Amino acid sequence: MTEEFDDLITELEATIQKEEKELYSERTLEEAYNPKNVGVLEDPDGYARITGPCGDTMQIHLKIADAKIVDCKFITDGCGPSTASGSAVTEMAKGKTIEDALRIEAKAILAVLDGLPEESIHCPVLAVNTLRAAIADYKAK
Ligand code: FES
Repeated sequence: MTEEFDDLITELEATIQKEEKELYSERTLEEAYNPKNVGVLEDPDGYARITGPCGDTMQIHLKIADAKIVDCKFITDGCGPSTASGSAVTEMAKGKTIEDALRIEAKAILAVLDGLPEESIHCPVLAVNTLRAAIADYKAK
């Protein structure tokens, strides 16, 4: 019985992995399964938490020094593409001036991730909007 159950799980995992590979690029899967910059920062200089049109949420914390983003962390309760997008946007933002970070567009995230399916296009938009709102929060202080 246990062996049959294990076989079933292995088969299910293989099916899911095959479907994921058909839908998403290798880079997206890499960023979704091994995201960078996940977490929170103590006493962030900028903070935002945004809910996208799908109902998923992303949060970004920023540490800023001399108008440069020196650290950046995100958390999302969203899908794999939103995790991949949060990872990509925080990697892109780190080291940039806040003005340069404000110029990061969703299409740049899409390019890093080698594209996403049509139904996931709003995920990098959520990541970029959250970054912009965290910068706006910093500027408002
Ligand atoms: Fe909600 Fe991707 S962020 S589906």
